[in-house]
Amino acid sequence: VLIQWFPGHMSKARRQVQENLKHVDIIMELVDARLPLSSRNPMLDKIIGTKPRLIIINKKDLGDELESQKWVHYFQSQGILAIKINAKEQQTVKKLTKAAKAVLAEQLQRASERGIQNKAIRTMIIGIPNVGKSTLMNRLAGKKIAITGNKPGVTKGQQWLKTNEELEILDTPGILWPKFEDQTVALKLALTGAIKDDLIPKDEITIFGLTFFKKNYPSELQARYKLSEAQLALSAVDLIVFLTKKMGFRDDYDRFYDLFVKDVRDGKLGTYTLDRLADLEDDENGDN
Ligand code: G4P
Repeated sequence: VLIQWFPGHMSKARRQVQENLKHVDIIMELVDARLPLSSRNPMLDKIIGTKPRLIIINKKDLGDELESQKWVHYFQSQGILAIKINAKEQQTVKKLTKAAKAVLAEQLQRASERGIQNKAIRTMIIGIPNVGKSTLMNRLAGKKIAITGNKPGVTKGQQWLKTNEELEILDTPGILWPKFEDQTVALKLALTGAIKDDLIPKDEITIFGLTFFKKNYPSELQARYKLSEAQLALSAVDLIVFLTKKMGFRDDYDRFYDLFVKDVRDGKLGTYTLDRLADLEDDENGDN
């Protein structure tokens, strides 16, 4: 569900998460493997404070495996355990339970010393729209559940979905807003379909996407559109003109924008990761 965010929604969403915080042992922050940074809520640290947290890099089947692994290390270097999953896969349930136990190892140890044993870990899934919260919750609950709280700020009495003897999930996910005020982040979100299509002009999304694939995955771009080396070297704008003609769309550029964006989203250009750890490191070095 894609949501249009307004300040009122944002403070309600924040309040809803904060109210539920006290009922859970650990937060599961869901991000998209193609956007491990851009699909995070900019205020999450403030919102959840010191609550134990696990980062779940979802849609690993769509992300560039090597880059996903770099992000796991990056989060680890920040002191946060991160795991990669595909929410549609059955083995996800075991992986998450194991990871949650690892994050809470000390607490569980202390509880067991006080004689408290075999108490289920309670968790809440949090993330921006479209990262796969409903898919994951259905997988964990082992059945199709109607997620009634799937709108910011809709709260109801807490109900716990039982995953197994060890893990219970709050039936209402925390839905938070993305970092859309940053133009590059907004372009990345738009390219993957995480934000509404009409928020950013399609030509801008396409220019951004072509430039990105030219730089990071040139052979996939070349293979998909059967480009010669010389054509691959064209600027994004010249490539649009060239490919629109080549596809038989005459000068109907909109048709090419639609085709390209759909190709990217459908994985026709292979797996990819739009957030590059190398870019982040460049930024940090630039600040020094
Ligand atoms: P949300 O609750 O966080 O808003 O996300 P939701 O579960 O609705 O998932 C958004 C889209 O992402 C869905 O696709 C869902 O199938 C897909 N998805 C979730 N997890 C994964 C994953 O690990 N891998 C892949 N490849 N896709 C995933 P959709 O096109 O909106 O619907 P549909 O294709 O399921 O019909």
